[in-house]
Amino acid sequence: MTDKKAYLTIEGQEPIELPIYSGTLGADVIDISNLGANGYFTFDPGFTSTAACESAITYIDGDKGVLLHRGYPIEQLAENSDFLEVCYLLFYGELPTAEQKSEFIETIGTHTMAHEQLSFFFRGFRRDAHPMSIMCGVVGALSAFYHDAMDITIPRHREITANRLVAKIPTLAAMSYKYSIGQPFVYPRNDLDYASNFLYMMFATPCEDYVVSPILAKAMDRIFMLHADHEQNASTSTVRLAGSSQANPFACIAAGIATLWGPAHGGANEACLEMLIEIGDESNVDEYVARAKDKNDPFRLMGFGHRVYKNYDPRATVMQKTCDEVLKELGIDDEPLFRIARKLEKVALEDPYFVEKKLYPNVDFYSGIILRAIGIPTTMFTVIFALARTIGWISHWNEMVSEPYRIGRPRQLYTGHEKRDYPKK
Ligand code: ACO
Repeated sequence: MTDKKAYLTIEGQEPIELPIYSGTLGADVIDISNLGANGYFTFDPGFTSTAACESAITYIDGDKGVLLHRGYPIEQLAENSDFLEVCYLLFYGELPTAEQKSEFIETIGTHTMAHEQLSFFFRGFRRDAHPMSIMCGVVGALSAFYHDAMDITIPRHREITANRLVAKIPTLAAMSYKYSIGQPFVYPRNDLDYASNFLYMMFATPCEDYVVSPILAKAMDRIFMLHADHEQNASTSTVRLAGSSQANPFACIAAGIATLWGPAHGGANEACLEMLIEIGDESNVDEYVARAKDKNDPFRLMGFGHRVYKNYDPRATVMQKTCDEVLKELGIDDEPLFRIARKLEKVALEDPYFVEKKLYPNVDFYSGIILRAIGIPTTMFTVIFALARTIGWISHWNEMVSEPYRIGRPRQLYTGHEKRDYPKK
């Protein structure tokens, strides 16, 4: 709360006083929750100016290109931390001590197996089902396994739920892939680190062992970390809204996965890679940039622009560096797609159209190239995003449920018929 107040003056009425609150960082918010009592609602489709909740997890300054998790800049986390440590930070609020970290790694490492009955559930899907469609179903199905024993008002139960999700989601993601290509499931290996275990379950088969490359495992871990949380985006807001009715948290996470699936949200990395393949050669870059600027052409530069970032997406900076390192270490830094991406980025960043509209590369611009270098098929790109974002979703759900909360219930501007009578027969 601040001493500042806003006054809303509606023609012919006394001004309505509205309190203003300040957070630790970012824009102040005007509390309009009592406006309904005065006969008005606010109207903000797309929530471009609406803070739907209070949160202490992640902060973004879109103009300056800043992303902080619990206060720590993403660049510093990427340099010094790893995905499981960031999971701990997001959920518990502080970095773990060495002892807490090894305890957490052990907890996650010993809950990686999915209930055996869940594997039968997969068989109901079409043989060639998209892995994201399978993920929506199987993560929701976890609620059937852990419903009765759970009381979401008990912090320990919420913590166990979060641990189960973080531990099992790579297993389910890899199972979704294996099922979609007709290969048998590969059980997790608890002697491997988080990212290596995921790659192992993706690429090992019963007839051939798979030795995980530490370079690829490190890149995978970095990708998980860069996607771990992004405050109140569409899927996180969905998880909060679903959770506000006190629904089972596994079902809430399934709702988040469904929201993420859309191409306007989690699907852009796949689209970006397809665009680079379509461009095909550095010599075609200028032509595609011209198309992106042409109002009569629906083509847009995928991986460019962001609703919140009006500056370089800080995750893109780290992603570019990782991409550089991975391709170099794999000896494929002359990869044509990478060269096209670099040229495209250079041309666009110098072009007045992109400069004036503040269109910068976003996280998806380079992630597809890295995922491809790791050997991840494009249908799994969004699944990997979902795997990584699960910790963000459950941390936000936990934050909401830990404090007094009410069911989310937006209002509307009704534009349908006025009351009318049913026609007499
Ligand atoms: N290429 C060309 N022009 C663009 C692009 C682009 N990638 N992005 C925005 N513009 C232009 C728009 O045509 C518009 O121009 P106008 O003002 O002359 O009409 C202006 O920039 C503003 O764009 P909006 O679409 O209004 O901005 P919004 O905030 O609604 O959309 C979005 C943001 C969806 C990310 C958009 O920039 C886009 O479509 N980018 C490409 C897809 C993409 O990379 N998505 C990933 C987002 S990151 C993530 O979800 C993890």
